[in-house]
Amino acid sequence: MPSAFARLLSEQLSDELGRLRRGRRPGAAAEKCVNIAELRELARRTIPASVFDYIDGGANDERTLRRNTLDFSDLEISPRVLVDVSSIDLSTTVLGQPVAVPILGAPTGLTGLAHPLGEVGVARAVHAAGSIYTLSASSSYTIEEVAERAPGPTWFQLYMWRDRGFVRELLERARAAGHRALVLTVDVPVSAGRERDIRNGFGIPPRVSVRTIRQGLARPGWSVRFLRDPRIEIANASGLPQGEGARSMVEFVNRQFDASASWNDIAWLREVWDGPVAIKGILRPDDAEQGVRAGASAIVVSNHGGRQLDGAPSAIAALPGIVAAVGGDAEVLLDSGVRRGSDVLKALALGARACLVGRAAVFGLAAGGQPGAERAMKLLVDELRTAMALAGLPRVADVDASCLVGRMPAEERTAP
Ligand SMILES: Cc1cc2nc3c(=O)[nH]c(=O)nc-3n(C[C@H](O)[C@H](O)[C@H](O)COP(=O)(O)O)c2cc1C
Repeated sequence: MPSAFARLLSEQLSDELGRLRRGRRPGAAAEKCVNIAELRELARRTIPASVFDYIDGGANDERTLRRNTLDFSDLEISPRVLVDVSSIDLSTTVLGQPVAVPILGAPTGLTGLAHPLGEVGVARAVHAAGSIYTLSASSSYTIEEVAERAPGPTWFQLYMWRDRGFVRELLERARAAGHRALVLTVDVPVSAGRERDIRNGFGIPPRVSVRTIRQGLARPGWSVRFLRDPRIEIANASGLPQGEGARSMVEFVNRQFDASASWNDIAWLREVWDGPVAIKGILRPDDAEQGVRAGASAIVVSNHGGRQLDGAPSAIAALPGIVAAVGGDAEVLLDSGVRRGSDVLKALALGARACLVGRAAVFGLAAGGQPGAERAMKLLVDELRTAMALAGLPRVADVDASCLVGRMPAEERTAP
């Protein structure tokens, strides 16, 4: 009879051997990360600095980027005790579509730079969590490729490109591929000064320099994957003159996107697209009201993850005013700064229907491919489930403003 200690030792050793064997699988290091901050750090060590900066960075002094996360941490959750939380139900609906969790994938362009699986990898991870992925029109894969390789519920995100014929064509392709809603992003009339990208000479297609080659050599795993399957262009726009003469991302955006777009264009879009429209990048109640009048079914409160107007308020600070203005007429979603499941709980408490995550999922993808993106989603979902249990909130519908204590971040800063 082996002693209890010998049994314990043998169990633990075989466990450890299994772990070592699994350690060689792609994404194994990402699976060991216990939070999004660790996935971000692993991403930083896995991909070249200029690609990491493209994902991680914000505009100018990155004040709004920092504010997004600071304002979430300033909010406190007031827990209710002795509530039966033996089962937590995170399911809800967004624009009439059921989702298992109130966490959607935000649109991120050129995701294939992080890892060649790009948007396909993130979409699969979001679908595995039972939720909706928003595909950026500026993706590294075409609309059709993502539909084929990552089947599941998707929305389509669009900027107002100057070439309206191209916009119309994109919308037809998105409809044919089964996208259920259109997300029109309105906070990029021009590109902001993302100083990390400017310093790195980041552009479309990326510029090869001694510096980028050095960075690539320092990240051999990424470089091998990249050389096998370089994803350097906006796949849907292969017909447009993409990099022609554009020396930077700023120049590219300013050439392709229409800085004269106005509310009148929403009416035109409503004629071309017959499904629901969400307007993304709203920070003011009056803009939200105008969006709803223009026919939007949802407003995405967002400052583009701090990548556009530096000095804009955090999305979580802007949320309550927008919910008060249009909450009865449209669904209000939020992105920008979500790094913890408890951040999602705070946004729901202030009236958001659901949150979208950008960097969290892309850090996961960069850190470990599709398993890394899955890890990011799992961490956020598990954290949300635990936060709801600890706060005494068994269902999404139980989450309301009474769950929060402390001053709202916006009040704090506008107080006389
Ligand atoms: C690498 C990257 C690319 C992005 N590309 C797009 C895009 O093509 N279209 C868009 O509407 N938003 C884009 N965004 C903004 C996200 O949709 C979202 O608003 C933002 O990431 C939310 O903030 P978070 O990263 O803190 O979650 C991008 C964000 C990142 C990080």
